[in-house]
Amino acid sequence: MALERTLTILKPDCVRKELIGEVTQKIQEAGFKILAMKMTRLTADTAGGFYAVHKERPFYGELCEFMSSGACVPMILEKENAVADFRTLIGATNPEEAEKGTIREQFADSLGENIIHGSDSVENGKIEAAYFFSEYEVVANNS
Ligand code: RTP
Ligand code: MG
Repeated sequence: MALERTLTILKPDCVRKELIGEVTQKIQEAGFKILAMKMTRLTADTAGGFYAVHKERPFYGELCEFMSSGACVPMILEKENAVADFRTLIGATNPEEAEKGTIREQFADSLGENIIHGSDSVENGKIEAAYFFSEYEVVANNS
């Protein structure tokens, strides 16, 4: 299996609920290496750019408002089969449908406030990583 990278964001609800440490621990225990990480805050416009693929969807306005409602923590993660394995780790978009033990099942309150983002393909992961990090902020992690 190929070594891949994926982009995650600990969303504003994750930060507000003081779950950064707990969620990050689960990510690391699942074998993902953190290559880049920061705390930042999106504006409605930058959140809109990040989720531009959903522009025509009815929930787009609400999504942009929520994603810009507080600090968030984007990270670039690396692991074999990272994109699919990370989607498995976080669980379904709607926490009510997420498998037991997944991050969304454990910590998320609703479909709109679901704690964490995960890229849906390697290609989109690269675009999303570049949205938050310059190449100088991506550190080789050989541990
Ligand atoms: P994400 O991109 O944040 O990892 O979430 P996802 O792939 O599991 O789901 P996606 O379809 O990409 O949707 C992005 C975010 O929009 C919100 N959403 N609301 N009200 C609705 O029907 C609805 N559908 C999606 C969710 O917060 C989702 O994470
Ligand atoms: Mg998505």
